Amino acid sequence: MSHAEKRPIVIGVTGGSGSGKTSVSRSILNSLPNHSILLFEQDSYYRDQSHLSFEDRLNTNYDHPLAFDTDLLTEHLQQLINYQAIDKPVYDYESHTRSQEVIHQEPKEVIILEGILILEDERLRDLMDIKVYVDTEDDIRIVRRIKRDMEERGRTLSSIIDQYLTVVKPMHHQFIEPTKKYADIIVPEGGENQVAIDLLTTKVRSILENK
Ligand code: C5P
Repeated sequence: MSHAEKRPIVIGVTGGSGSGKTSVSRSILNSLPNHSILLFEQDSYYRDQSHLSFEDRLNTNYDHPLAFDTDLLTEHLQQLINYQAIDKPVYDYESHTRSQEVIHQEPKEVIILEGILILEDERLRDLMDIKVYVDTEDDIRIVRRIKRDMEERGRTLSSIIDQYLTVVKPMHHQFIEPTKKYADIIVPEGGENQVAIDLLTTKVRSILENK
């Protein structure tokens, strides 16, 4: 079948920061070794803040829907669905802005779109075939976040705790958790949940075979 007759499958994987979205996405990817799969992260589409001072960038609320360039993300996702390549932005967590480089990304058969607020925007929801919410308790999520942000994102313990209590936690309950209602599947305990991963990959295979 030619690309003109079919379109890639889009799986949305959301959940709070530290919920295990990446583990779920990787488990789906590893369970479908015979298909071309793209892990596509909403974080790449944090707005460019190069015009702001470092201090202002530090004070930005990165857990609010407006922190993302959703117009560009929607446009790029639509292009990938149309089997067109994109130049994906690259985000730098240490300088809190988009970097100068872009990554040329060819389209793939399956797109896993992962991010904290991908179900918040109706345009993005409408482009997804399967919507997954990874549901993990707050204490587990903060512990994972502390480890990740200290090891990979150049943060101090006190800055992580302060940001969590003043921004991340309230925004999670205001914006992220309410998007659970849009999910087709709610997965407790993320990547550890092999039954949920098996159900998801069975569904993806059946869509791929019937296209
Ligand atoms: O990978 P994860 O889903 O945790 O990424 C989203 C988180 O990244 C948000 O909760 C946000 O607070 C954080 N973030 C940050 N600094 C930035 C951009 C995002 O701490 N400059």
